[in-house]
Amino acid sequence: MDSIAVVGGNTLNGTVDVSGSKNAALPILFSTLLADGVHQFENVPQLRDIDSTELLLSALNCDIERASHSMTVKVTPPGKPEASYDLVRKMRASILCLGPLLARYGEARVSLPGGCAIGSRPIDLHVQTMQRLGAEIEVEGGYVIAKAKRLQGEQILFERVTVGGTENALMAATLARGTTVIENAAKEPEIVDLVHYLQSMGARIEGEGTSVITIEGVDELVPSTHRIVADRIEAGTLLIAGAITGGCVTVNQCVPSHLQALIDKMRECGFSIHTDEKSVSVDAADEWIGTDVATAPYPSFPTDLQAQFMVLMTQATGTSVITEGIFENRFMHVQELVRLGANITPMAQVAIVRGEPGGLSGAKVMATDLRASACLVLAGLVAEGVTTVNRIYHLDRGYELLERKLAGLGADVKRVS
Ligand code: UD1
Repeated sequence: MDSIAVVGGNTLNGTVDVSGSKNAALPILFSTLLADGVHQFENVPQLRDIDSTELLLSALNCDIERASHSMTVKVTPPGKPEASYDLVRKMRASILCLGPLLARYGEARVSLPGGCAIGSRPIDLHVQTMQRLGAEIEVEGGYVIAKAKRLQGEQILFERVTVGGTENALMAATLARGTTVIENAAKEPEIVDLVHYLQSMGARIEGEGTSVITIEGVDELVPSTHRIVADRIEAGTLLIAGAITGGCVTVNQCVPSHLQALIDKMRECGFSIHTDEKSVSVDAADEWIGTDVATAPYPSFPTDLQAQFMVLMTQATGTSVITEGIFENRFMHVQELVRLGANITPMAQVAIVRGEPGGLSGAKVMATDLRASACLVLAGLVAEGVTTVNRIYHLDRGYELLERKLAGLGADVKRVS
């Protein structure tokens, strides 16, 4: 199994390009199920989660061609609108095929995703939404079985903000009869990117990027073309990588406004950050101060950057209180950071980080989930000696060749087979 070995101490400098967003690409690829024919995409990241999506779509009778970062999905109706356990267990986001299959074929049989390292992550809100739109749902043998002759537009009020739930609701409602209004909808840029693709297929949607989205159902959608939006989480990770090494790094081909919460927090710490139309730069800094951060739905600070920001705080002067407001068990990286010498006290949803610049030393560590893996690689950049991050299949789910991008900026990092 591959691991990543980082020799700490190099200062990162230069410019790095960001890949397309995993979290935008996944729902968009599942949305192709809404319309037969050839869909074409650019800027699709090369990631394990995209491979898993390809497998699932292929099992649903889609023909997929990939060349570098382009992808063509030819959709033809499947024998059975079904996503098996073997395919779904690899990636929780597979539940995103529920809405499109149900809307398009009047039935869907989708395996319940397995447990997940960052909390129980139920799918009750996805299921309730489909019921609200008129589906009959049964759970049998580990599968959600949903049926509805034609979905019926409705008022959907999410009791909590859910990115995936909003995406499933949106996709299902595009082909429903009548109007659907989603309240307390997620406002993430990935939702907006999905809506842009749905609109280009002929869907009638208004309000994306706000908490109320209105969908006027149509009878049919047609395939279209789309360029996937830049990955704001990868962009933020690379910006933190530059900052933590005291380097001067420009993260290119991104959408700076999508990173506003991170930029604000980094400025609070004392970093000098500049933005351009498509890039964000951090200036070299010798020291920075600890600041508190709480994760919450967009446009607040993203949970997917919490672990990486925590590493930055281990190198700050002073204390930082980090509150995880989205997932119940997303401090798995803390114990590994502590093994590297970090002074962090986790307490339920809060972690207290007592910064100590230069206080980390290399060790063998274990990646527990996607963002935790990235955080351990960042820690390795500043730890004395060698840090070996094991189980990096998590990293490959969501970062396209992170080690190459970091090496391009001057890091001493390599993949070891
Ligand atoms: C998406 C992102 C993930 C990110 C998360 C929050 C993708 C593929 N993944 O995950 O990277 O960390 O948004 O920004 O886009 N919940 C329920 N019931 C449900 C659904 C969710 O209780 O039916 C809870 C979850 O356990 C969690 C919270 O709601 O506590 C938010 O989850 P959600 O926004 O749905 O996350 P995902 O869509 O799974």
